Amino acid sequence: MKLGVITGSVGAALGDAEEHLDLDTAYGAPSAPLALHRFAAGEMLVLARHGSRHEFAPHEINYRANIRALKDAGAQAVVGLFTVGAVDATLPPGALVVPDQVIDYTWGREHTYAGATNNAAVQHVLFEPPFDNALRVRVIAAGEGIIDGGTYGCTQGPRLETAAEIRRMANDGCTLVGMTGMPEATLAMELELPYAALCLVVNPAAGMGAIVLEDMQRVAADGAVELAGVVHRLMGG
Ligand code: HPA
Repeated sequence: MKLGVITGSVGAALGDAEEHLDLDTAYGAPSAPLALHRFAAGEMLVLARHGSRHEFAPHEINYRANIRALKDAGAQAVVGLFTVGAVDATLPPGALVVPDQVIDYTWGREHTYAGATNNAAVQHVLFEPPFDNALRVRVIAAGEGIIDGGTYGCTQGPRLETAAEIRRMANDGCTLVGMTGMPEATLAMELELPYAALCLVVNPAAGMGAIVLEDMQRVAADGAVELAGVVHRLMGG
């Protein structure tokens, strides 16, 4: 089993890699070299979505290169790790959620491998369900107390949302808000890579409670250890 793991701000907790793979793709270079970790049960390829120095804002990430690079390196499935805000006020900071639905509020991102601009055929990929259910079940089983299901609303960022935007998202049925889940999930689907998201709640979304940036960073740092534990158990470690 070769598992791709795309991390947000929690990569370091996954430990040191044995090797780094510097890849290029037809869509450009991925955000960072792929860090290869070996386990008894297989290999893990870790990719820092925002770059090695966290230099890419959500709308600047080359999602196409990232997914293509993981596919080219032999990944058979991909788990995306995310920090998110809670639109559902019952989700406390520190909660881990594996969403089963997504609503895309982003714009202007390179979000497909299909069409003439890519020298490719027009392709209308099925995107329901958006996440691979067998992989979701495995991720949930690799941790404790992970919440099964939720709707990830992906905003453009990098700014946080207004309270009115979050009320709209809640009315739409979103339970989580993040900035990087899309088009990552769609692109994985287009390349037939089973994909699941594991989300760490780091703050109440705007208007649902006070957002304190220092608190978000502390919860993210604490949660990174937990996320790493889930990923290591997924690899049988
Ligand atoms: N909004 C969008 N993205 C986020 C948030 C948020 O409140 N928290 C962490 N990522």
